[in-house]
Amino acid sequence: MLKKQIKIAPSLLSADFCAMGEAMKNLKAWGADYAHCDVMDGVFVPNLTFGMPMVKALKKCAQIPLDVHLMIVKPEKYVMQFADAGADIITFHPDASEKTGAALKEIKARGIKCGLVLNPDKPLSLIEPYLELIDMLVIMSVYAGFGGQSFIRDSLAKIGKARALLNAAGRSDVDIEVDGGVGEGNAADILSAGANVLVAGSAVFGSPNPPKTISALRGALG
Ligand code: DX5
Ligand code: ZN
Repeated sequence: MLKKQIKIAPSLLSADFCAMGEAMKNLKAWGADYAHCDVMDGVFVPNLTFGMPMVKALKKCAQIPLDVHLMIVKPEKYVMQFADAGADIITFHPDASEKTGAALKEIKARGIKCGLVLNPDKPLSLIEPYLELIDMLVIMSVYAGFGGQSFIRDSLAKIGKARALLNAAGRSDVDIEVDGGVGEGNAADILSAGANVLVAGSAVFGSPNPPKTISALRGALG
């Protein structure tokens, strides 16, 4: 089996909202692979961030793909609008959707990557019906809603189980992204458990040397 490429996706939630254009420019210069955009509706999660207009604005100055994480109810109502806004990857929580399969198919039909996200209390069985459709599985290692929370160690076992499930289904090509509390102290454990995409908000934007942090995360396995 080919070794999967490790990708780093800094979360813009921890960037300076007064200077998003600069943040986008920086991400490319710092060597990030994706710009992770956290969309929250105040209903699925107890926090509000931004929607399609912001994604559209970010796309104008984006030099790397936009990885859009929808934390909203009924994401099926909005996925095409996020596609139009310029999302390159769209992920959503299956427990927030009444039309998970249809929404995934719609995203794929647009030639955009799609994925499903599981909060820490949501079992892998929720994504089993959709293994054929997804390009990415996101394992939340904190409860979705806020940046800067502490990594939940139990997530490591879930990542391992997720990788085994994907391999057994003949989907070793699917990316496993881990989101929440990721930093230099746990990146090696997360990657060795079977993940290959790391979201990092506070670890990157709060770092005195973001490019160094990004390369440390990428090279955590040595
Ligand atoms: C949480 C978001 C995360 C968050 C990550 O709901 O999905 O993407 O911004 O931030 P850190 O890396 O600070 O935990
Ligand atoms: Zn996220």
